[in-house]
Amino acid sequence: MSGKEKMMISGGMPLEGVVRVSGGKNTSVAVIPATLLCDEPCTIENLPDIDDVRALVDILRSLGAEVDYEPGAFMRVDPRTAHGCQVGYRDAQRLRASYYLIGALLGRQGKAEVAFPGGCKIGTRPIDQHLKGFNAIGARTEERGGAIFADAEELTGGDVFFDVVTVGGTINVMLAACKAQGTTVLHNAAKEPHIVDLANFLNSMGARVKGAGTDTIRIKGESWLHGTTYAVIPDQIETGTLMIAAAATHGDVEISGCIPTHMEALTAKLLEMGVRVTDSDDAIRVRMNGAHRAVNVKTQVYPGFPTDLQQPMSALLTTAHGTSIIQETIFESRFKHMDELVRMGANIRVVDRTAIIEGVPTLYGAPVTTTDLRAGAALLVAGLMAKGETEIYEPEYIDRGYEHIEDKLRSLGAVIRREPIE
Ligand code: EPU
Repeated sequence: MSGKEKMMISGGMPLEGVVRVSGGKNTSVAVIPATLLCDEPCTIENLPDIDDVRALVDILRSLGAEVDYEPGAFMRVDPRTAHGCQVGYRDAQRLRASYYLIGALLGRQGKAEVAFPGGCKIGTRPIDQHLKGFNAIGARTEERGGAIFADAEELTGGDVFFDVVTVGGTINVMLAACKAQGTTVLHNAAKEPHIVDLANFLNSMGARVKGAGTDTIRIKGESWLHGTTYAVIPDQIETGTLMIAAAATHGDVEISGCIPTHMEALTAKLLEMGVRVTDSDDAIRVRMNGAHRAVNVKTQVYPGFPTDLQQPMSALLTTAHGTSIIQETIFESRFKHMDELVRMGANIRVVDRTAIIEGVPTLYGAPVTTTDLRAGAALLVAGLMAKGETEIYEPEYIDRGYEHIEDKLRSLGAVIRREPIE
């Protein structure tokens, strides 16, 4: 993070208008490594133009793949020349999802040497379940010198029982298992929409993945996968962040190109708060006038309330009538934004993994610093709702996951700009 720029927001403007949501970050960062499993070129559409995607382009190229990337349009990957199996420290540190290269390279060539991943520092984030899964399908794994070494003469289908529901573990083992001999069964698998999207992508190449979206996924390995063209699903968390921002600014926003059924946990909470939410096939309209009520939020795996929306949601709750209680059950260190919200006038007490938020009449602009991607989203929401000017330092974290966010917010009437730090 260079930290050479800051984001400036003059708050208090209601967001109004129509905004189109981008392709999903967490699905894109799984689908791009998955192209390595293909035996022909494939094309991916609807990818968001974000730092995590750009990092993966560099990694695929460093492995020898030919990548033709037209941001905002398509990415064509020809993996046939990808003979590398190493992802070094500098590349792996650029994003969390670099660990999907372990599953993809194991599946592709039975060997992977991938440095430990980077990404948001929101807890210890072990990958023991990924390794356990690889071992269950015949791979040897070793952690050495800050990297994971994995190899297998031949991957063979097996049963994997995850001790915790893990999105990353489910995706990583799914990737490797696509090329294993026989059938792999993932038990206690994660059910997030991007798991289903990855399965659809893999199946469009001829893989045989069944049960994605339930807690049992069956993968019958295939030795050869054909080229495909595939568009990733819209971003659930960007959709939710925009819904929250619309409510927080007492606005009226239609978020188009989204999948409303993916948003049910958030929609239910907003309705409980007194926000008006209506939806059609592929759009959600959020309106708020008047006050909103405090609610309790407990983060859960899908279809529960997503941890990735806990942070922006807590910004909205700072001005709710009454006391809200937020319990973060997924990551142990995902409250770093709370201190910054307090700097803006919020009344928040954090006890371990619970935050107690007493609603205040308003937030006031202040200089604040982003510590991770969704903390950045929380500060964006807070800046939009606050009286006066908010300066957000380290806005680069936000660029990891939100495509052209300032342009989108400006199109809805927000007064927001980025400027160099003197
Ligand atoms: N866990 C283990 N062992 C493992 C893997 C996970 O104990 O081997 C634990 C974690 O420590 C955590 C819980 O299981 O307590 C869930 O972790 P999970 O593996 O589901 O999360 P992840 O794969 O590291 C992905 C997203 C996160 C999102 C979580 C939960 C990507 C690249 N990251 O992380 O997204 O919060 O799932 O939905 O897909 C973000 O977008 O801001 C972000 C952090």
